[in-house]
Amino acid sequence: MPVITTIEDLRRIYRRRVPRMFYDYCESGSWTEQTFRENTSDFGQIRLRQRVAVDMEGRSTATRMIGQEVTMPVALAPVGLTGMQSADGEIKAARAAEKFGVPFTLSTMSICSIEDVAAHTQKPFWFQLYVMRDQEFLENIIERARRAGCSALVLTLDLQILGQRHKDLKNGLSAPPKLTLPTLLNLATKWGWGLEMLGTKRRQFGNIVGHARGVTNASSLITWTAEQFDPRLDWEKVRRIKEMWDGKLILKGILDADDAKMALDVGADAIVVSNHGGRQLDGAVSAIRALPSILRAVGGQVEVHLDSGIRSGQDVLKAVAMGAQGTYIGRAFIYGLGAMGEAGVRTALEILHKELDVSMALCGHKTIEGLGHDILMIPEDFEGKWA
Ligand SMILES: Cc1cc2nc3c(=O)[nH]c(=O)nc-3n(C[C@H](O)[C@H](O)[C@H](O)COP(=O)(O)O)c2cc1C
Repeated sequence: MPVITTIEDLRRIYRRRVPRMFYDYCESGSWTEQTFRENTSDFGQIRLRQRVAVDMEGRSTATRMIGQEVTMPVALAPVGLTGMQSADGEIKAARAAEKFGVPFTLSTMSICSIEDVAAHTQKPFWFQLYVMRDQEFLENIIERARRAGCSALVLTLDLQILGQRHKDLKNGLSAPPKLTLPTLLNLATKWGWGLEMLGTKRRQFGNIVGHARGVTNASSLITWTAEQFDPRLDWEKVRRIKEMWDGKLILKGILDADDAKMALDVGADAIVVSNHGGRQLDGAVSAIRALPSILRAVGGQVEVHLDSGIRSGQDVLKAVAMGAQGTYIGRAFIYGLGAMGEAGVRTALEILHKELDVSMALCGHKTIEGLGHDILMIPEDFEGKWA
C-alpha cells in the first residue's frame, strides 16, 4: 500500500480502481473546463501570512455549521451516482462523515435511497433536493427526507438544465453502465470494483426507481430524468419549497451578489457559494473569487458556505478566513471513496483536518472563530475589474 499524504494521492489510486466512465464523470467540468480549472488555481493565488512565537497549544478546528457542531468546517457535498464509485458508496461516505463529526449531504440522484442511508447511520444527515416537474414526486421526496430525520434541506439552484460534459456523452454514462465493447474492455481491468458491485443490489437511482410514477426500470428512468428537471424553478417556487420543508434550508449554487440577496430575502439559513464544481456554466468565475462580493452583499445576515475547488486544508483555511462559515468537498471525498471505500473517505477527511490544523497554527491561530482576513494575502486584483 503506498503512503498516502495528499488528496492527489487518493485521486491517483481512484483513477486506477474505478471504471473510466465514472472517473470521467467525476473529474470533468462542462465544455472547455475553464471554470473547473480556475476553481482550484484561484485558491493558489491567495497566500497565507506566517506568524511565529505564538502559543500553539490546545488548538481546535471545531465550529458550527447551521448551528450544528462539526469537527471542522467541512461537509460532504451532494454527489450523484456516488454508489457507482464504490458499491453502497453513499452509505460508506455517510458513515465516514458521521464518525468524523462532519455533515453528509445525500443527493437526490444517489444510488442508495434516503431510507437506506438513514437505516445504516445513527445521526441525521442533510438531503439535497433537485426540483422536478412531477409535483407528487417533489412533495413525496421532501416528506421522505423529513421522515428519515434529515436535519437540513440543501436546495440546488444551479442545475435546472444540464451543462454539457463531453466525456459523459462520449462514454455513454449510465447507471448501471451500458455494456458496450469499450466499456466491457475497461470493466475487465477493474475487477476489484466489479466484485464489490456484484455483491450489492444497489445499482440504480434509489430515490427515484419505485418512487416516481411509472419508473420501474433503467430505461423508464432515463426518460423520466431527462424530462423531469424543472426549468421553471424561480424564487417563488423556492419560497414554496421552504414552506413545505419547514426546517433548516440551505440554498446551493449562488455565485452572484444579487442572487445572494434574493436568498437572504427568501429566508435561507445558509447559502452555498458554488458553481457546481465547474460542471454547469463554463466561463463563470471561481467560487473563491465570488466569495468576497457575496459576503459584502449579505452583510452577515445569512450563513455563507462555499464549495468548488477545495483540495486541501489550506483551501479550507483560506475560505474560512475570508469569511465562509463552512465549506463542502465533492471530488476530494469521491477520490477517497473510489480509492478505498469508507476508509478512503476517512483518509480524505483526516488529510484535510491535519492540513487545516497545522496551517491554522502556523498562521498563529488556535480556533476557527479567531480566523480572519489578517492571515490572508490576497492579490489586489483578485476579484477582478470587470466591465
Ligand atoms: C461527480 C459529481 C456529481 C455531483 N452531483 C451533484 C448532485 O447530485 N447534486 C448537487 O447539488 N451537486 C452535485 N455535484 C456538485 C457538488 O455538490 C459540489 O458542488 C462540487 O463537487 C464542489 O466542487 P469540488 O468537487 O471541486 O469540491 C456533483 C459534483 C460531482 C463532482
